[in-house]
Amino acid sequence: MRELRDVLEQTQKNGVAVGHFNIADLVLLKAVFASAQELKVPVLVGVSEGEREFIGVRQIAALVRSLREEFNFPIFLNADHTHSLVKALDAAKAGFDAIVFDASALPFEQNVHQTRKAVEAIKAINPSTLMEGEIGDIGTGSEIHEHAPDLSKGLTTPEEARQFVESTGIDILAPAVGNMHGMLKSMVQGKTSKHLDTERIAHIKKAARVPLTLHGGSGTGDEDLRKAIAAGINIVHINTELRVAWRRGLEEALSRQPDEVVPYKILASPVEYVKHVVSSRLKLFNGG
Ligand code: G3H
Ligand code: ZN
Repeated sequence: MRELRDVLEQTQKNGVAVGHFNIADLVLLKAVFASAQELKVPVLVGVSEGEREFIGVRQIAALVRSLREEFNFPIFLNADHTHSLVKALDAAKAGFDAIVFDASALPFEQNVHQTRKAVEAIKAINPSTLMEGEIGDIGTGSEIHEHAPDLSKGLTTPEEARQFVESTGIDILAPAVGNMHGMLKSMVQGKTSKHLDTERIAHIKKAARVPLTLHGGSGTGDEDLRKAIAAGINIVHINTELRVAWRRGLEEALSRQPDEVVPYKILASPVEYVKHVVSSRLKLFNGG
């Protein structure tokens, strides 16, 4: 079985990206896995601190490992937005393939210091765990926001990216390139979309020379995503779009079958709704 590192190398050669989908329950995991299996493309499952508190750190690691082993399929697990070293260590010990150590709210020098410490500690436990670091401001919360935050002052520069990668030893960099966590109401309605600074991505890629992750992928236009991948993005994170689909699928099932109480009969609908979103994003990330 290939490791995540090999998969990322291959995406860099092929000019495609790995889809990273956040999950908080079995409905989401089933939908993500089924879509990736149908399309025969590697996939990365992400769990934030809140999501893994809900499922259980060792429990989600066991679930993903069981899918990978039983189906001999390249599905990988990422500890998304990990703000403390203790939680990063828990994830590494549970066997996560990757960890996003997120100290991006701190001033640059402190972010460098904390991230370097985390990289050293995690690599001492398992040198093959991939470590991602984050710089710049991309907002917080995979939720529906009332107003767009002003993130223009927190955009990553190529020089910061180079310095950050060199001084922390991270394997993957998450820059701020016009992306933002969550969606505005108008994005959920399909009236507006996020726009990315693809020229900046290309310059950051040249300076950083490591795989790049685009966070806050939900609500980004297809063409912006294609250009971002061509400019050097190797992983794209999608969460809010899945949460919206999960809720819509659940509402649809409950209103269609008001007397149904069998969970797996109700939950078939949210699985299908989420699968639809994951499949269309995976096709796009893989050159479709
Ligand atoms: O880490 C998670 C993502 O960056 C998801 O962002 O909710 O805007 O898709 P999103
Ligand atoms: Zn994120």
